[in-house]
Amino acid sequence: MSRVVYRSTFGGPEVLDVREIPDPHAGPGEIRIAVGAIGLNPMDWQIAASVRHAAMFGITGPSGFGCDLAGVVDEVGHGVAGFAEGDRVYGGVLVGAAADHVVLRVPLAPPNLLVSIPDGIDDATAAALPTPGLTALAAIEAIRLGPADVALIGGAAGGVGVLAVQLARLAGAKVIGTGALGTFDFLRQIGAVPITYGPTLPRRLRETDTGGITAAIDLHGSDTAEAALALGVPASRIATVASERRLPGVHATGAFAADPASLGRMTEAIRRGEVTVPIAARFPLSEIREAVTLQSAGHVHGKIIVMV
Ligand SMILES: NC(=O)c1ccc[n+]([C@@H]2O[C@H](COP(=O)([O-])OP(=O)(O)OC[C@H]3O[C@@H](n4cnc5c(N)ncnc54)[C@H](OP(=O)(O)O)[C@@H]3O)[C@@H](O)[C@H]2O)c1
Repeated sequence: MSRVVYRSTFGGPEVLDVREIPDPHAGPGEIRIAVGAIGLNPMDWQIAASVRHAAMFGITGPSGFGCDLAGVVDEVGHGVAGFAEGDRVYGGVLVGAAADHVVLRVPLAPPNLLVSIPDGIDDATAAALPTPGLTALAAIEAIRLGPADVALIGGAAGGVGVLAVQLARLAGAKVIGTGALGTFDFLRQIGAVPITYGPTLPRRLRETDTGGITAAIDLHGSDTAEAALALGVPASRIATVASERRLPGVHATGAFAADPASLGRMTEAIRRGEVTVPIAARFPLSEIREAVTLQSAGHVHGKIIVMV
């Protein structure tokens, strides 16, 4: 038998059940992945909780749960090219990653994505990367960060933020990262100068010796983007990934905008020790509700990983 996380209705963590089903198998044109780890993202619980969010991804009823995964191909169906048994892979599947086994049709239909895990990267680290990594890469690419920049990053300690901060530093930029007071030490460890978020951010930034903000990435709504605009940062040097407001000229971007091949830049930087992937907590699949409860509280530092 094989375990799968199933959502029978929309709601909070309590609607997620771990069910036992007969082992799924790869048919012709399909591969099966034995999942090793999944990385939780806000979109996972947003899809589970909200009919409106789910509909944006074409989901209208009960479904599986989870997007980002890492594991090993353990069955390859007739006629499949490009995958072999034993391949270690990571990527994203639209709802259904939280399971012992995931069966996918090949070639993969977007937004499904699978790439090889390079040697030296474990499953937990790989599962932390697909959605956050592509989102961080897209945001940095959109505003073309470079060594002359002082970048303000809002939501800098979250799953996307930890990667965005370190990639921005790798690009040579100085980074000011927002977080709660208790997050300051963590932000310093990943290379950001901390500052609290909140309504007085523009005034406090003016009073701080930051060297002048030249660019910004908002990973939590639009407050950071609006603060940067108030400080005179050109809209073309500001990116948002989670803004409900449209800010003229600001790049509204996300994982969809990044080239999946660019994840290789991230894993290379991790292998060289230039980027670390902080894991805030690990849960077993049987504790999926507890994992989602912690993730959805919105104050995670790094990633929550569910080991399968
Ligand atoms: N467009 C896309 O493709 C895409 C892809 C991935 C994510 N997203 C979106 O991007 C956002 C961030 O994702 P994530 O995975 O990084 O989430 P996350 O890991 O849940 O982010 C948690 C972080 O948010 C910080 N935070 C909480 N309240 C804040 C506030 N008012 N202002 C600034 N920061 C605040 C927390 O800092 P403290 O603990 O210090 O409070 C915490 O470190 C989410 O809204 C997500 O839906 C979009």
